[in-house]
Amino acid sequence: MRFEDLKLGELRDLSEAMATVAAASASGIFSALLEGPTSSEELAERQDLSPRATAILLPFLAELGLLEINGQAFQLTPRARRELADPSSPEYSAGGLPLWLHNLEAWTRLPEVLEAGGPVEAREPDSDSGSDSRREEIARFMAGMAAAPEERVQRLVEGILARKPDAETVLDLGGGPGHISRAFLERGLRATLMDKPEVVEFVDEEYGLAEEAGISTMGGDFLVDPVPGGPFDVVLLSNVIHMLSEDQAESLIQKVGEVTEKGSVIAVADFIRGRSPRAARFALVMLLRTPNGNTYTEEAHERWFRKAGFGDLEVLDLDPDRQLLTAVRGHG
Ligand SMILES: C[S@@+](CC[C@H](N)C(=O)[O-])C[C@H]1O[C@@H](n2cnc3c(N)ncnc32)[C@H](O)[C@@H]1O
Repeated sequence: MRFEDLKLGELRDLSEAMATVAAASASGIFSALLEGPTSSEELAERQDLSPRATAILLPFLAELGLLEINGQAFQLTPRARRELADPSSPEYSAGGLPLWLHNLEAWTRLPEVLEAGGPVEAREPDSDSGSDSRREEIARFMAGMAAAPEERVQRLVEGILARKPDAETVLDLGGGPGHISRAFLERGLRATLMDKPEVVEFVDEEYGLAEEAGISTMGGDFLVDPVPGGPFDVVLLSNVIHMLSEDQAESLIQKVGEVTEKGSVIAVADFIRGRSPRAARFALVMLLRTPNGNTYTEEAHERWFRKAGFGDLEVLDLDPDRQLLTAVRGHG
């Protein structure tokens, strides 16, 4: 994104519109309208919202082209139905909006973060703000991760299996809700998912991983604890490296070397600096939300891979923003 492509006023308008759409989505307005045309008063009552606030919000959503007004009733436009309301639509992309809206709060703290050099509030799921809100934070974070488009997940799995067609086992480090482990399972692999203990407890229950015979879960801190013993054919770090400092990334990748053998594949899916148009912006999200996170170049990854015994690096664009880096143990 280049600032000069848009006027300042246009950027302001887009930001306000996006925040409104995310808030309407998080308040269940679009999904409630799936039931059919509804008046503002009915909708407010059904969603337990303020009638005044709802009456002010809906005409703006109509102005954005997301709702149509029919007499007293509001109804979804086809685009809003597909992208924001109907989870069974292939174009549905509202799953991550509550997390995006939550992150927006952190953006408003950027002036303080620029002085502090790190988050001024704890990043979920690291906060200590009581077990109920902690669970809510984990739920929002996991829903954001699980909202990844199926097409991207499939491209990731295919990209990895192209490098290791005979793979039988995968270690999904920082696997979160397990959507990628499940995609491997569908291809006949067995998966081991490691994440923080409280996250594993949550996803075992809420995402049914405990009952999934082909997926073993393990709670632990991969920066401190040993990673599950291998050898694994594939070790995946998807959206994990950007949460770490360079030193942490290097030592985690070193641990990956210890649970793999010749021919095993390491795979990193992330926003790669110098290739992803979103990498510099996403580094700011990590500055706001994590003590050490950042985004890194292909060259930095290659250096870490080589030290851990992985070579023959290949890069695949999963979409314009996200890349998949793969390297093979014992090569190059
Ligand atoms: C951004 S999410 C990525 C989830 C999933 N891999 C994906 O691509 O959607 C990062 C995950 O790493 C986990 N994580 C972060 N630091 C960790 C640590 N030190 N030990 C274990 N898991 C960690 C988080 O709990 C979270 O589930």
